[in-house]
Amino acid sequence: MLSREENELLCRVGRDTQMGQAVRHFWMPAFLSSELPEPGGDPLHIELLNENLVAFRDHNGQLGLLDEMCCHRGASLTVGRVEECGIRCIYHGWLFAPDGTVLETPNVPDGRFKARFKAKSYPVREAGGVVWTYLGDPDKVPAFPDFPALTAPKQQVLATFGIFGCNYVQVLEGLLDSSHLSLLHKSQLAAKDLPDIAFVRKTSHMQFDATPRIEVEETEFGLHYGAIREVDGHAETNVTGFIAPFFILNPNDMTIITVPLTDEKTGFYLIAYDGESRYGEEPLSSQHLKATGFDRASLEAFGMTRKTFGTTARPQRANGFHQDRAAMRAGHFTGLPGLTPEDLVVAVSGGGIRDRRSEHLSSADAAIAKMYRVLLRSARQVSEGGKPVAYGQSVASLRGRRVRLPLGTDWRTLVPDHKLVRAKVA
Ligand code: FES
Ligand SMILES: [Fe+2]
Repeated sequence: MLSREENELLCRVGRDTQMGQAVRHFWMPAFLSSELPEPGGDPLHIELLNENLVAFRDHNGQLGLLDEMCCHRGASLTVGRVEECGIRCIYHGWLFAPDGTVLETPNVPDGRFKARFKAKSYPVREAGGVVWTYLGDPDKVPAFPDFPALTAPKQQVLATFGIFGCNYVQVLEGLLDSSHLSLLHKSQLAAKDLPDIAFVRKTSHMQFDATPRIEVEETEFGLHYGAIREVDGHAETNVTGFIAPFFILNPNDMTIITVPLTDEKTGFYLIAYDGESRYGEEPLSSQHLKATGFDRASLEAFGMTRKTFGTTARPQRANGFHQDRAAMRAGHFTGLPGLTPEDLVVAVSGGGIRDRRSEHLSSADAAIAKMYRVLLRSARQVSEGGKPVAYGQSVASLRGRRVRLPLGTDWRTLVPDHKLVRAKVA
C-alpha cells in the first residue's frame, strides 16, 4: 500500500519530478533499429519520459534524435524532410544536423544567425537491435550499459517492442510476480500446441504451483528474488533480477526494459539472448516472437505498435479488453490468446496510473513491495543531491536464472554477483 504522494513520486517521470530526474541518469531504449532501417527513411515520432522527440536517419546513415518541435516557430519535425545531412523543417526550410547544429535558415538573410543556437539533440547509440539514448545532463553522460546481449553477435540476439497503455510500474509489477504465472497464464502454459523452444519448456511447469516460496533481497543495483516451486522432488528455481529503474533480468534468458513513454504509456522492450541460441535467425526468431506474443499480428491485434496504439485495437472497456467470454465458459481461464495479451490486459485494466492506496500486498508480492521501496529511495537520493540506485554500476555479470536444484539449495549460489545491501538500507 502506498500513500497518494508516494504513488505520485513512484510513477511520474516528467522532467520536473523527482523520479523524472532520477531516471534521466540512465541510458534507455528510444526505439528499435528496425524501426528506422534505411538512410533517408521516414522520420519517427518518439515519446520518452513525457517528451516528444523526432528520430531520423539521414541520407548518410547518421542517426539523429532531436526535440520534436522545430526551434524556429515550433512546427513538428515529424512532418519534415530527411535529407543528405539532417532533417529539414517544411515550414521555413531550416535544416538541422543530427547533433542539432543549424545548417541552413533559408528565410533569414543574415548568414551568421544560424550559428547563435542549436536544436536540442540527444546522444544515440545502437546496440542489441535497439537505439539507446540519454536524456539527462549532457555533462554527466554515464557509461553505456554493459548487458552481454548488447555486444553479442547479431544472430544470437532478438530485440522486440510493444506498447502497454499504463504506467511503467504496473508493467514492472507483472515481471516481479512469479505466482501470477500459475494463475493468469495457466491455460497458456497448459496448451498443447506451443513450440518446443527453451522459453516454453522452462515455463510450462509453473502451471502446477501457485504458491512458490518467494525470497527477496535488496541489492546494490535493485533486487534479486528467488521463486521456488517443488516439482517431482526438486526445487524448480527462478531467479529474477531487477536493476533500477526499469531493467529486468528475466529467468528465461530475456532482458526486459519497461521504458516510460509517458506517465500512462510504457514501451516494453524484450531482448532475447542466452549466449548460444540463434534468436536472431529463423526459425527460432519467429517461434520466439509467437510464443511470447510479440509477433506482428498479435501486436497489431492488441494495439501495441506505434501505429495501432491509438486505435480501437487497444484493449479497453469499450472492446471488452478483447476477452472471449465463450472460451472462458468453455474452460479457458482468461479468454485471451497469449501470454502477452494476458499480461497487457491485467496491467492496463487497473487504469493509466493504478491507485495503490487500497491494495493489500501479500507474501506473494514481496518483490513488488521491495521494488517500490528501491525506486522511492532512489528518487529521494537524487532529490537530496545524491545518485540514483544502480547508477554507474556494471551489469555485465548479473543474471536471471531458471534451474532445477536439489531441495534445500540456496538460490543465491546461482547469482554470485548478488551484491546484497540489506544491511546498509534503513
Ligand atoms: S517553424 Fe521550422 S523552419 Fe520555421
Ligand atoms: Fe505474465
